[in-house]
Amino acid sequence: MTSPNRLRLGVNIDHVATVRNARGGDTPDPLRAARIAQDAGCDGITAHLREDRRHISDADIEGLMDMLTVPLNFEMAATAEMQAIALRHKPHAVCIVPEKREERTTEGGLEVAREENRLAHFIAPLIDAGSRVSIFIAADKRQVEAAHRIGAQVIELHSGAYCDAHHEGRFEDRDRELKALREMSAFGHDLGLEVHVGHGLTYETVQPVAAFPEVMELNIGHFLIGEAIFLGMEPAIAKMRHLMDEART
Ligand code: PXP
Repeated sequence: MTSPNRLRLGVNIDHVATVRNARGGDTPDPLRAARIAQDAGCDGITAHLREDRRHISDADIEGLMDMLTVPLNFEMAATAEMQAIALRHKPHAVCIVPEKREERTTEGGLEVAREENRLAHFIAPLIDAGSRVSIFIAADKRQVEAAHRIGAQVIELHSGAYCDAHHEGRFEDRDRELKALREMSAFGHDLGLEVHVGHGLTYETVQPVAAFPEVMELNIGHFLIGEAIFLGMEPAIAKMRHLMDEART
């Protein structure tokens, strides 16, 4: 039986679409990756529809909504266009992320504290439509408090700085970032927010984060899709699942 405290794994399939789009054809198909991830026991699929459609397309989102039996976590910028798409599809979850055209990936968390009013109005219709709204933020107390004030149900803490520091051998920075993630997970949880963590996680970095009891979900993409090239999707996901479960116990 699945424990209610089981840490959920959301698999981000954006980079299957990145490879597909490099040639402009139909393969590799992100929907096929989603189906395999689902069969491999992931708890959700995450896909980011970027303004420039550099990886996931509108048709991918439609296909995912039709075929998934696990929840879709739809990542999007806080724009009118994306809001309209989310309201049309009503995905299980919407994660609001900052987006810059020139960035290679989502570089930082959303600046919620400076945009509280706009964001509160932006997310209200999404919550009314039944999507669980998550805000992607840095592990920063001001941002956690602001996400709570605007009515978000979930925060996703950006683990990129922690992972980068680890992989670059900056261990003091890594430990400081990990401490911030731990403290803000507990703080967010105490405010009544559901806490997720994502960005840059690998087999080497996942366990310390997976061990935080307040964290309910990890969203992992780039590393897993890369590992899938060597191991296959199913074993790559199974290994991550095993490490998460091991850390949790
Ligand atoms: N969570 C959020 C909100 C993200 O924007 C991303 C990257 O798109 C991820 C998780 C997954 O990050 P990665 O691909 O580095 O595992």
